[in-house]
Amino acid sequence: MKRIGILTSGGDAPGMNACIRAAVRTALANDLAVVGIRRGYTGLIAGDATPLDRKAIRNTIHLGGTILETSRSRDFYTQEGRLKAAAAIDRMGLDGIILIGGEGTFHGASLLAADADTAALVGVPASIDNDVYGTDYCIGFDTAANCAVEAIDRIRDTARSHDRLFFIEVMGRTAGFLALESGIAGGAEELVIPEEEVSVDRISERIKKGFTIGKKSAIVVVAEGKRPGISFEIAREVGENLNFDSRVVVLGHLQRGGPPTLRDRVLGSLLGFAAVEALMDGRSGCMVGEVGRDLTCTPLEETWQKKKPLDKNLLRIFPFLSE
Ligand code: F6P
Repeated sequence: MKRIGILTSGGDAPGMNACIRAAVRTALANDLAVVGIRRGYTGLIAGDATPLDRKAIRNTIHLGGTILETSRSRDFYTQEGRLKAAAAIDRMGLDGIILIGGEGTFHGASLLAADADTAALVGVPASIDNDVYGTDYCIGFDTAANCAVEAIDRIRDTARSHDRLFFIEVMGRTAGFLALESGIAGGAEELVIPEEEVSVDRISERIKKGFTIGKKSAIVVVAEGKRPGISFEIAREVGENLNFDSRVVVLGHLQRGGPPTLRDRVLGSLLGFAAVEALMDGRSGCMVGEVGRDLTCTPLEETWQKKKPLDKNLLRIFPFLSE
């Protein structure tokens, strides 16, 4: 292993820069040359690379987004695109690539490995959705969840002042990790997550029960699930059921930006280091992660084929805490 590339792909996640920084510093300390591939798989196909030295990553640990930029490449989902990428990897003389991203990134990497005998590929989980199998937490989740909690706190002030019902929609793609943890931390009265059947009657009943024991306002955290904007429908139906003044707030991309939290900087640093170590140990076709307190390397296919479950204990406690 002499020369490695690093790319970020899919939705950006706070902490990606901490990961890039750690990977570059670890690689340089081990006499590996490092290049950054710009704009994820789009840049990989084009062979768009820039040398990454100490100067390039200096003063970046606190920055959100990704200094390498990112993309959701449609071309990479074609074999033609992936073969172009494999040829570019050859031209760039890369022995290994660190792919920082989520499920879609690792799906793409699995397809690339099946299509071409190319550089060693090691993934690092970074997604505010936290829906990647093979790691307890993905880089970016903690910052996004904290952003959602801050929003919930702010909305609670106005909800309480006006005796209103608020529906706050959080991101998370088809998973409820963001909704579950921000809902618990924000003291939400009700939760709508894709992992559980949504019933307008159930939501209405629970909110009504809260009102009978003296609550005058309520917050429902809704995971965007398969249909971003779903909270408008639910709000209308529950509002009609209860005949109560309601409002909807969709947090959207706000949750993806901003400086990474301590946890995301530490996790990014740890996994950036682990990815370089994995490449130097001759690993390929796997994703580094942290499970319990252990550093792990999960086969890339498993990271997107297996479903990571929500924390069953958090699911169990929610109904008791929200009354
Ligand atoms: O995967 C991260 C994520 O922010 C999801 O939570 C969200 O559904 C999606 O990306 C939004 O994608 P885009 O930035 O392409 O609109």
